[in-house]
Amino acid sequence: MCGIVGYVGHRNSTEILLDGLRRLEYRGYDSAGLAVLGGRGVTIVRAQGKLKALEEKLKQHWPQGPLGIGHTRWATHGRPSETNAHPHQAGPIVLVHNGIIENYQELRHFLAKKGHTIKSETDTEIVCHLIQQRLYDGLSMEQAFHHVLGELRGSYALVVMNTNEPGRLYVARQGSPLVIGVGKGESFAASDVSAFLPYTRQAIFLEDNDWGMLSASQAVFYDRKGNRVKRPLKKIVWNQTQAEKGGFKHFMLKEICEQPRILMDTLANRTVEKQKRVFLEGVAKVLKGKFPYNKIYIIACGTSYHAGLVGKYLIEEMARLPVMVDQASEFRYRRPIIDRRTLLIAISQSGETADTLAALKEAKSQGAKIISICNVIDASIPRASHATLYTRAGPEIGVASTKAFTTQVAVLILLALHLGRGQGKISSGFVDEAISALLRVPSQMEWILKRSKSIEAMAKKYAKRSSFLYFGRGVNFPIALEGALKLKEISYIHAEGYSAGEMKHGPIALIDKGMPVVVLAPQDKTYEKVLSNIAEVKARGASVIAVGTEGDRELARHVDDLLLIPPAPWYVTPLLESIPMQLLAYHMAICRGTDVDQPRNLAKSVTVE
Ligand code: AGP
Repeated sequence: MCGIVGYVGHRNSTEILLDGLRRLEYRGYDSAGLAVLGGRGVTIVRAQGKLKALEEKLKQHWPQGPLGIGHTRWATHGRPSETNAHPHQAGPIVLVHNGIIENYQELRHFLAKKGHTIKSETDTEIVCHLIQQRLYDGLSMEQAFHHVLGELRGSYALVVMNTNEPGRLYVARQGSPLVIGVGKGESFAASDVSAFLPYTRQAIFLEDNDWGMLSASQAVFYDRKGNRVKRPLKKIVWNQTQAEKGGFKHFMLKEICEQPRILMDTLANRTVEKQKRVFLEGVAKVLKGKFPYNKIYIIACGTSYHAGLVGKYLIEEMARLPVMVDQASEFRYRRPIIDRRTLLIAISQSGETADTLAALKEAKSQGAKIISICNVIDASIPRASHATLYTRAGPEIGVASTKAFTTQVAVLILLALHLGRGQGKISSGFVDEAISALLRVPSQMEWILKRSKSIEAMAKKYAKRSSFLYFGRGVNFPIALEGALKLKEISYIHAEGYSAGEMKHGPIALIDKGMPVVVLAPQDKTYEKVLSNIAEVKARGASVIAVGTEGDRELARHVDDLLLIPPAPWYVTPLLESIPMQLLAYHMAICRGTDVDQPRNLAKSVTVE
């Protein structure tokens, strides 16, 4: 996730772009840059690090010109560096991009054959060269831009300048947000309205496949086929802080709601339907050939640890390899059996968690091969690993982890499929079905999110309760732990997660009249057993909130409240169940008036022991 901004009008664009980037910095901050077109041609200034580094550079030379584009980066392809920072340029084409171009390797080969020299490691730079190539081929700028959009696969929001066309910006959107600001004699383009709210409150939200041109006085848009389209002009009534949250009340809610789109990014160019295999670019070398490891450790903390527990069920079932999951803080202080035949998977959103990093280093020093699953590019954990699979969730601002968790689980599903195939334990047909099931998840998540009103009502009903139990079996057990952690973290309600089978060995003593018990009950192989567990807690007076499969009338008869997920294979249900768990915790916290995004006593990244 990156922040992009464009300006065309009557003021000097440098100030406006910088101001916009400051408001977009929450979207990414590993490098930043801007390009300004004035009387002396185009000036591009880029810097690695936070926006401050760019501001320092600009002090030496403050570009002047009424047309410009800016970018603050969250690295996906290519490490954070000045060369990889946007804007990118090829001849007269200068552009900024947010998203992932899935077929960039293929396009890169094509451009190399045509004699283009690509300077950065990014997927973005190839877009400049492609447009330049189509200009060489004799197309007009408008035709070239439209043509190139048809060649791109993946997600993008693009703002493009042609240095031969002062006074004009080209824009396009597919899968990544882009909104146009309409001012008096000036136009803006940005990832969200916060970037231009001080200048105008009139906005046009582009739809997927829209593209067009902006000048100071006009905005023209087309659809994929090139037909002219009109998009409504809307008045923004949000204040500045709301705008950064895309109109959501909290970052956590925004991050919950963006999971369908984010998951598409996580899966992008790793799953191709009908190809019967997954592509795990980052770990190919470590996992190549015959599997040389005799055991796998997964280490992590908090929510990432829960993702690791899901990973154990997935890898053991699909690849038939032994997996041990440890909290990193425990792992580092015992004497785990590690040698050169140990594969260690470290999971971390931030990539900076002190315990995970220390445990990883310890295992590495004893000969283990390290794969990390991480969200932040080039953080300490990926740097200390032999290979990394990035989750591509974009910056997670809410302290309570949501989208980082589901993307970690998605990556673990891909890894389990990869290992399972490598071990010959699952067929290519199984992989094919799994890919189709995974690609259905974003729309299934949307389906759940559309029904979130009922969760809000449910939260009101239970918000005064002081203690909750969460039960799940099999792969749903870690989701019970995660659901309970979410509730504790942000609503400060006591909550415990247990495997449903363990209930009779102690926790059942806690149940009395009206005690809320959240039960994960999808229709998988543990379903019948879970129904019995529900009967047992109901018999002792519990109020049961179940998460079950759409159309499950039997379950509906036995529980007090039912949250539905669409039917899906067992390995996909953790992704779907997570959404009602997150929303329940969120709405409970709202009812109790706690600080959702920055709950007491917690920090987003725990960089001390
Ligand atoms: C989850 O909501 C918490 N923020 C916390 O448990 C977190 O998952 C843990 O601190 C690990 O962080 P990491 O993924 O950045 O390593």
